[in-house]
Amino acid sequence: MFKKAEWPRRLRSQEWYGGTSRDNIYHRGWLKNQGYPHDLFDGRPVIGILNTWSELTPCNGHLRELAQKVKAGVWEAGGFPLEVPVFSASENTYRPTAMMYRNLAALAVEETMRAQPIDGAVLLVGCDKTTPSLMMGAASTDIPSIVVTGGPMLNGWFRGERVGSGTALWQMSEDIKAGKITPQDFLDAEQAMSRSSGTCNTMGTASTMASMAEALGMALSGNAAIPGVDARRKVMAQLSGRRIVEMVKDDLKPSDILTREAFENAIRVNGAIGGSTNAVVHLLALAGRTKVDLSLADWDRLGRDVPTIVNLMPSGKYLMEEFFYAGGLPVVLKRLGEAGMLHKDALTVSGGPVWDEVKDAVNWNEDVILPADRALTASGGIAVLKGNLAPLGAVLKPSAATPALMKHRGRAVVFEDIDDYKAKIDDDALDIDETCIMVMKNCGPRGYPGMAEVGNMGLPPKVLKKGITDMVRISDARMSGTAYGTVVLHTSPEAAAGGPLAIVRDGDMIELDVAARRLHIDLTDEEIAARLAAWHAPVAPGTANGGYSQLYVAHVEGADTGADFDFLKGCRGNEVPRDSH
Ligand code: FES
Repeated sequence: MFKKAEWPRRLRSQEWYGGTSRDNIYHRGWLKNQGYPHDLFDGRPVIGILNTWSELTPCNGHLRELAQKVKAGVWEAGGFPLEVPVFSASENTYRPTAMMYRNLAALAVEETMRAQPIDGAVLLVGCDKTTPSLMMGAASTDIPSIVVTGGPMLNGWFRGERVGSGTALWQMSEDIKAGKITPQDFLDAEQAMSRSSGTCNTMGTASTMASMAEALGMALSGNAAIPGVDARRKVMAQLSGRRIVEMVKDDLKPSDILTREAFENAIRVNGAIGGSTNAVVHLLALAGRTKVDLSLADWDRLGRDVPTIVNLMPSGKYLMEEFFYAGGLPVVLKRLGEAGMLHKDALTVSGGPVWDEVKDAVNWNEDVILPADRALTASGGIAVLKGNLAPLGAVLKPSAATPALMKHRGRAVVFEDIDDYKAKIDDDALDIDETCIMVMKNCGPRGYPGMAEVGNMGLPPKVLKKGITDMVRISDARMSGTAYGTVVLHTSPEAAAGGPLAIVRDGDMIELDVAARRLHIDLTDEEIAARLAAWHAPVAPGTANGGYSQLYVAHVEGADTGADFDFLKGCRGNEVPRDSH
């Protein structure tokens, strides 16, 4: 078992609490106004429970209850737990997009950890951006940390059918346009979508990032899939509270866990679960906070041969509740290990190798976690496309795409931005049919700003009414992890940064060839250069009056490297700042 330091030893919290100076008395005395006995300041690990609870982050609305269980675990193990609210980037409320606030949340978490008497942290997260932002902040301080997610909602059910978070929303909004259901049907279904505490119940971004945290080794085994309201979620929280105290004593830090092997395991797991394309930007950004040199090429190389075996929406049929009953992520990790696709020795928060945690896992339902010969797709990883339309890369999720469209050549129908798309898409006069390729610009990190989840543009009604359900779509945007379709995303460089996407015009011919990893526009290099020379960068909406959006646009990097801020990359450690009193 991992053990890098002897115990007892002096921890960083003792710089605040361990002594008799005026400053020590100041720090200790004020905390005692909450009724803490003096012996709690004797040098035991102080554990910050970094809680993204917020009533405006409904997916994390139950985390204060879970925090009580974490506290119980910390007390049991001899630590001193303190619950600390941190920035909560809610996916379903933040505008223009929660992604614009991921880096801000990571910055706030990093400073919260470093500037306060925290020896170890429990990262209490759930909704999409809360998980990567807290892991990024923890990685940049390298203070021992363990992830506890809130768990997914129970299955939604409507008229005898499963209702998957997000996935049903996209499907029904298209069904209305196609005349298949009524607006009242849609409203009735709303009541059935979110019927318990927890995160989206599909293999959307929240479930994907919970799975990534577990696959990276940053959460205890089995954490990802336990439903938010299952008693075992509370047990997981309590066990994690116990564990973080031991991690502090052993000095087991994020830098010990977030190794190249850990990232490679996570990328392969993403392929096996049919995970969200958002994991690409989040893991690239997280790696950027460590010494691991991760790239888009790693995503393509490592995921290429991984079959998608988890039969969950949006790629498949079931929901997270059923994934948990089938055995959850440990089964997937075991299967990857048996196939030679897992670094079995990768260290986890348990203090031991990942293989020890998963080797005895049992698959209780082979229709939910499929055998390899019945995989949803044999090549489930994220396909990374390159070509003269995406010199730095673009991504596509094969398991959510239509096989017949994976090689397609079509006429571009161009939308200059999301407003242009919304203004035109429902107009029957729009010159478009199902053979066309929809292209949307200015939705990348700088252009939107924030890189919104609008890449899965809804199809035009006149195409939907023919019974067509998919078309090739290309943009520099992201896509919700709950969405699906033959959608090329994260095209880099983005249009607002002067990538070739900026100069695509109606009628240009574009070729997509996923097997060849090619995204090509039929223009000569000279024509592209001439169009770019005449191009002027747009002003990103909302950035003219200063404030955070201006900071964001000035410092955000491209999606191909994770869309982090240039000045936040790397680990700045946890040296105790000097006191001011
Ligand atoms: Fe919060 Fe899906 S919107 S988890």
